[in-house]
Amino acid sequence: MADSLTLDEFLARVAAFSAEARPAIAAADSADALEGVRAKYLGRNHGWLKDLSAALGQLPKEARGAAGKAFNDARTDVEGALETRQASLAPSSAGVALADPTMPARHAWRGAVHPVSQVIDEVVAIFRELGFTVALGPEAESPWYNFGSLNFPADHPAMDLHDTLYISDDVVLRTHTSPVQVRTLQSYPPPIRVLIPGNVHRRDPFDPSHAPTFAQIEGLVVDEGISFADLKATLTHFANRFFGSTKTRFRPSYFPFTEPSAEMDVLCGVCKGSGCGVCKQSGWVEILGSGLVHPAVLESAGVDSERYSGWAFGMGPARTALARHGIPDIRLLYDSDVRFLDQFAR
Ligand code: PHE
Repeated sequence: MADSLTLDEFLARVAAFSAEARPAIAAADSADALEGVRAKYLGRNHGWLKDLSAALGQLPKEARGAAGKAFNDARTDVEGALETRQASLAPSSAGVALADPTMPARHAWRGAVHPVSQVIDEVVAIFRELGFTVALGPEAESPWYNFGSLNFPADHPAMDLHDTLYISDDVVLRTHTSPVQVRTLQSYPPPIRVLIPGNVHRRDPFDPSHAPTFAQIEGLVVDEGISFADLKATLTHFANRFFGSTKTRFRPSYFPFTEPSAEMDVLCGVCKGSGCGVCKQSGWVEILGSGLVHPAVLESAGVDSERYSGWAFGMGPARTALARHGIPDIRLLYDSDVRFLDQFAR
């Protein structure tokens, strides 16, 4: 059998292989049709490829090098044509991306700081510039720290089961960060300036302006000669730093642990004071409660109230985030829907 074929005859067959296979591939208009073409021209057990491999063996030895190269080139070329055709027929994701480079890119999710945490971080940063440090306290608290040490009378309605979550007779979930005022004063004698961020819990169902668990930031200053002027100046400075120059107003209020007490409002950032849904048409948004620390609180913590005085405030960063962004419902902040929260990513 050997030497029964010449090189020219073999090369003619290779050329015929390419000349037939390439138009057949181009004409295949479905994945099935293309598979038929592949089997016919490139199949292992039958077809053109097998015949050509057999013919290679019938060539004179000195012709086999050139013949083999021509054979391999033709085969690589036909295989390439087949793959290209396959990609344009099969709607695999890679195929589509190749076929349509105008398709929109995929959205890349990045981690970001929650809008409530952004407020906390910024408030802490502003007060740090004024020499405040950060203190923390427990969320499961004794009724004495949460109420008694803060001058709540024994029959105060806040202590009612309606308003406060009791874990046992001796343990409540703290309803505010104010108990950490007393804890801090017990551990660090004045002068002190601290900021106390943390979560608090109340027996409130979710509604547009309430959440059963929410963050608070407490501030406390105790030193000799502290007056209401210090409170007003510091909180006004804070409001202007946080909201950008704004207007503030103080309204008289009541808390058992401060005397006198005041709430601070800032001009509504959404309507600039003309009245809108966010400020309930008043033009003002309440930002925090504050007051001079009641002497009874200083005494609870073992601080001499004749020598020292202080002021404190408590704010809700979630409410502040609502006011800042004009968000109408606090539940949007606590539902953890990233499609909503992503708008505030920085
Ligand atoms: N603890 C108060 C509250 O939760 C806020 C407050 C803190 C008021 C400190 C005055 C001083 O409403």
